[in-house]
Amino acid sequence: MSVPTSTGRFGEFGGRYVPESLVPACAALEAAFRDAWSDTAFRERLAHLRTTYAGRPTALTAAERLSAELGVTLLLKREDLAHTGSHKINNVLGQALLAQRMGKTRLIAETGAGQHGVATATAAALFGMRATVYMGERDIARQRLNVFRMELLGAEVIPVTSGSRTLKDATNEAMRAWVAAVDEAHFCLGSVGGPHPYPWLVRELQRVIGEEARAQTPVIPDVVVACVGGGSNAAGTFAGFVDTPARLIGVEAAGGAAMTNGTPGVVHGYRSLVLQDAAGQVLEAESIAAGLDYPGVGPEHAHLGTTGRAEYRTVTDDEVLDAVRRLARSEGIICALESAHAVAWVLRAAGTPDLPTGSTVLLTLSGRGDKDMATLAGEVR
Ligand SMILES: Cc1ncc(COP(=O)(O)O)c(C=O)c1O
Repeated sequence: MSVPTSTGRFGEFGGRYVPESLVPACAALEAAFRDAWSDTAFRERLAHLRTTYAGRPTALTAAERLSAELGVTLLLKREDLAHTGSHKINNVLGQALLAQRMGKTRLIAETGAGQHGVATATAAALFGMRATVYMGERDIARQRLNVFRMELLGAEVIPVTSGSRTLKDATNEAMRAWVAAVDEAHFCLGSVGGPHPYPWLVRELQRVIGEEARAQTPVIPDVVVACVGGGSNAAGTFAGFVDTPARLIGVEAAGGAAMTNGTPGVVHGYRSLVLQDAAGQVLEAESIAAGLDYPGVGPEHAHLGTTGRAEYRTVTDDEVLDAVRRLARSEGIICALESAHAVAWVLRAAGTPDLPTGSTVLLTLSGRGDKDMATLAGEVR
């Protein structure tokens, strides 16, 4: 996958659109990451944590009953089996190690579904740091289990009451808090968005998903598919296959589809495709999955999409609920609502020209569905 330019551009997207007070912090983070990433001791420490703490490598599971029903070979990369229940732990362990190396004592994070908040709270506990997590009030209500988990781990969860009270607004508040505490705190961003170096840094930390999957798959799959909110699990998965003939497909929520319905613009410190009105006002996204309820998308996806290397599709909330149920009943796996977007696309496309019968599909299950039980209890019959 491409390395961004020195100004953090993937084609026309990316960059660093931050207040002057944050430019030195972004530059220091970039320098620290370049240094750490070329340091064997840092890499070994991260690899050790991945195996002894996070439970990597995660399994690759052949979904045999669903494959037989659909007429495709469906292979699941099981990030739901990673410690804390999602791929977010891969990113956070790397960033926490980096923060420690930079002498920071505190992690500030934003969270939507709460999985990134839980991963941040976990790493903070492991490294003896303070954690402050910003979360929209609406997400606090629908992802209450994860709020309990964060608090039990010792993190402070700050409710955000502005705007749509979801991830967009939590990100605004976390960035503001970072400006105020930049000397002691590292902003532990949860996806492949934000100002340079975050989109590149987070993709490098998530690349482990794609590289493991590539080593575990018997053949190069015809199609590689993952859900896209900010796009970190998809970016990490795609990184393992971008140099192969595999088609790369990202699946967005119909109500939060920046790749499909967005136009070029700036949000949260980066230029990408953004859901916005004609005046450039960022629009509210809307999805049953709190982690996909976001009006932007990582700049590398915008670049992969506009150059045609990756393709992006949308699915509806109803298709997602059906996908959770089908996967649960045919494979005994209850996946997160976010991950179910990728499953829903496979269910819809299998046997059509978009996904012909006989195809081999690698699908990243980014997380498990425990956090979604309150939502699912009311919806799935
Ligand atoms: C399980 C799960 N999958 C996916 C996402 C979306 O994030 P990304 O697109 O960065 O992978 C989230 C975000 O909270 C999540 O919790």
